Amino acid sequence: MKILSGKIALVTGGSRGIGKTISKTLAEAGATVIVNYANNSNHANETVAAIQEAGGKAFAIQADITNEVMVKELIQDSEEQCGGTIDILVNNATGPQPELSIEDSTWKDYLDQLDFFVKAPLLLTKAVLSGMKQKQEGRIINIGSEVIQLGNSNFSSYVTAKSSQLGMTRSWASELGPYGITVNLINPGFVPVERHAGIDPSGYAETVPLRRVGVPQDIASAVLFLSSSESSFISGQSLSVNGGNTFGI
Ligand SMILES: NC(=O)c1ccc[n+]([C@@H]2O[C@H](COP(=O)([O-])OP(=O)(O)OC[C@H]3O[C@@H](n4cnc5c(N)ncnc54)[C@H](OP(=O)(O)O)[C@@H]3O)[C@@H](O)[C@H]2O)c1
Repeated sequence: MKILSGKIALVTGGSRGIGKTISKTLAEAGATVIVNYANNSNHANETVAAIQEAGGKAFAIQADITNEVMVKELIQDSEEQCGGTIDILVNNATGPQPELSIEDSTWKDYLDQLDFFVKAPLLLTKAVLSGMKQKQEGRIINIGSEVIQLGNSNFSSYVTAKSSQLGMTRSWASELGPYGITVNLINPGFVPVERHAGIDPSGYAETVPLRRVGVPQDIASAVLFLSSSESSFISGQSLSVNGGNTFGI
């Protein structure tokens, strides 16, 4: 029996980048995976096909996770397709991350990032909570970033929204612990994915104690551990997965 057999996982932005590897890894471990995406059905269908070819179970469902109505529909559709409620929620999706000086940033730029990293996890968590509370078990995993410890000039809107996830994670962990629901934050370092094509990561890698950039599997393996019963006494934690570039706060 696989470690996530019988579990249902929803991975937001699960169609490409880090989310794609998270989706495949949870499916390999036996979970039925909802691969959420917003715009590109080809990537989502490719990810689902790869999971099915490997003997796993997955469905692609389109939804803008910053939209309250669509989030409700996403959860309803997921539960109908899978025949049960969500056990594992991975808040992974990201929209554009604009490079802007403070002078060029507007409040709207900050709100756009908060929409992805605070509003969307809130809407999704609210929508899955009753099922998790009934089961007295659940896993909520927020994907943050090492920039909450390092800062990043010209990306302050992104860093501010990612930083909010730390207090949010700890408060949710505190509130949901009595229901057997764990909430944790994973902070990746630089993990080149499709959208980074053409960027030379070697300069960044030299600054990392383990002297390499991340690969999506580094993050997916941490998600797998935090999804499993092996981590049942770990909640409210901030885990840096970045080759020792920073230490957790
Ligand atoms: N890669 C890194 O170096 C790195 C470093 C630190 C932290 N992170 C964090 O890791 C997570 C994944 O990053 P990534 O680089 O793998 O991202 P990515 O490759 O850009 O993928 C983004 C995913 O989010 C989906 N998406 C975009 N807008 C959406 C919306 N409104 N509703 C639902 N889904 C939406 C995309 O679907 P469509 O293609 O259909 O639009 C896609 O599946 C993010 O939270 C990011 O901040 C990444």
